Amino acid sequence: MHATAPLLLLLAAACSLGAPRNTSFPQGFLFGASSAAYQVEGAWNTSGRGESNWDRLIHRHPECISNEATADVAADSYHKYQEDVRAAKEVGFDFYRFSISWPRIMPQGNLSLINQDGIDYYNNLINALLANNIQPVVTMFHWDLPQSLQDLGGLMNPAIVDYFEDYARLLYTTYGDRVKLWTTFNEPYEISVGLTSACEAPADLVSPGFGEYLAMHNLLKAHATAYRLYDREFRRRQGGKVGITLSAAWAVPKSQSAADLEAAERYLQFTVGWFAHPIFSQEGDYPSVMKERVARNSKAEGLRRSRLPEFGPEWVDYIKGSYDFFGLNHYTTKILSEPATATVSQISMANDMGNLVTEQDDAWPYGAATYFRYVPFGMRNILKWVSERYNGVDILITENGWCDSGELNDTMRTRFYVNYLAAVLDAIYLDNVQVIGHAAWSLIDNFEWASGYSMKFGLYYVDFNDPDRPRVPKDSSKVYASMIKNRSLPEEYLDKVEE
Ligand code: BGC
Repeated sequence: MHATAPLLLLLAAACSLGAPRNTSFPQGFLFGASSAAYQVEGAWNTSGRGESNWDRLIHRHPECISNEATADVAADSYHKYQEDVRAAKEVGFDFYRFSISWPRIMPQGNLSLINQDGIDYYNNLINALLANNIQPVVTMFHWDLPQSLQDLGGLMNPAIVDYFEDYARLLYTTYGDRVKLWTTFNEPYEISVGLTSACEAPADLVSPGFGEYLAMHNLLKAHATAYRLYDREFRRRQGGKVGITLSAAWAVPKSQSAADLEAAERYLQFTVGWFAHPIFSQEGDYPSVMKERVARNSKAEGLRRSRLPEFGPEWVDYIKGSYDFFGLNHYTTKILSEPATATVSQISMANDMGNLVTEQDDAWPYGAATYFRYVPFGMRNILKWVSERYNGVDILITENGWCDSGELNDTMRTRFYVNYLAAVLDAIYLDNVQVIGHAAWSLIDNFEWASGYSMKFGLYYVDFNDPDRPRVPKDSSKVYASMIKNRSLPEEYLDKVEE
């Protein structure tokens, strides 16, 4: 099967201008790299850090992680952060996006205990970045929840909204004089849908069709509360920006039939609109297609109310507009269609979505995991989709990357970044999408959740068998460095466009 239609459209758009593709980055475009505390820091039980829900999962269910790996040491960034800063500097990045480990600074998840060593660690990291002219971009929550909050039900307990507000206030107060770009949550979709899998933290709370909707509901409230807190108490003095990082795959309709076009749009509404619509749309609240379908299914299941909770008008207003930018993580593209015959499966979000068929094109290259496909036009299309749906919002690409087995001669990663950034430039120049910057995932090889160390995303290689965890530049980091220096795409790595 070949899903070439969007590619042709893309090329047609580029050619219709009759001008060569613009391969220069606009002034002010920010280049960065990303990481996450749990994936790089290690030092899981030293210097006063509390246990997180991921520590609990990994230690109690080692079988969940490829080769029973742990993140106990990971890339040891807790001790080697200066080497990370050096690597970021070597490539020439404008910003480094990292996350703060909530249990490292609040071991109990609440204000009863603040861990000074943890506070100092992030102060040191931020100061080292700034000393090297690299802007810190901070994610407040990249999946590692204090276990003590998990014990209370974690994101499924509405009390999380207040605990998150306390945590956000501590972050703004402590670091906000130097941190000017914040994102509250990394990938609400993965966090919430994680609650339907026995091998995502928290492992012991598997509740498909219920848990993910409850968790997202609280998460959206927590996000808006942290955003409004910044408005009320910090924005005037600190002058920063607060957003949220959302993951979005692109969805290609399998055919141009009305049913498949609708299937692709429905998929995007359930996997992106679910959390983007309440924050970024003019109307606010969940997308109507979700409200209708979950309510209808809930009724058929004999429930008295929808499994998708209701916000009520005050929360709709409070959440709506709680952003200064849209953080986008983009990794892959899928092909969507309606199933040949309508099916009803057990209670789940997939069933609410209509048990859509998702496929990928065999012609799309992949590296260490078949899920992550090389489809540059997906980047341009998802940027356009977000921009059109959400009023031309400023987009910061907070993650985008390629996984392989860790080779130093990583030609496919180079090809990936050059051609994905070309797609970003097309979105900027041809579609008028406001993209303010792009972060490569990831600066260094790291702990890839359930895949352990079997998949590598870094621009720098890390040998996880070496106690020193040296950072070694891969070839892609050098091409990246020259791209940033020249502020234009190296033409020799651009895919040839067939006329
Ligand atoms: C996450 C990262 C992860 C990456 C690659 C994103 O969903 O934010 O933590 O490493 O994808 O799987």
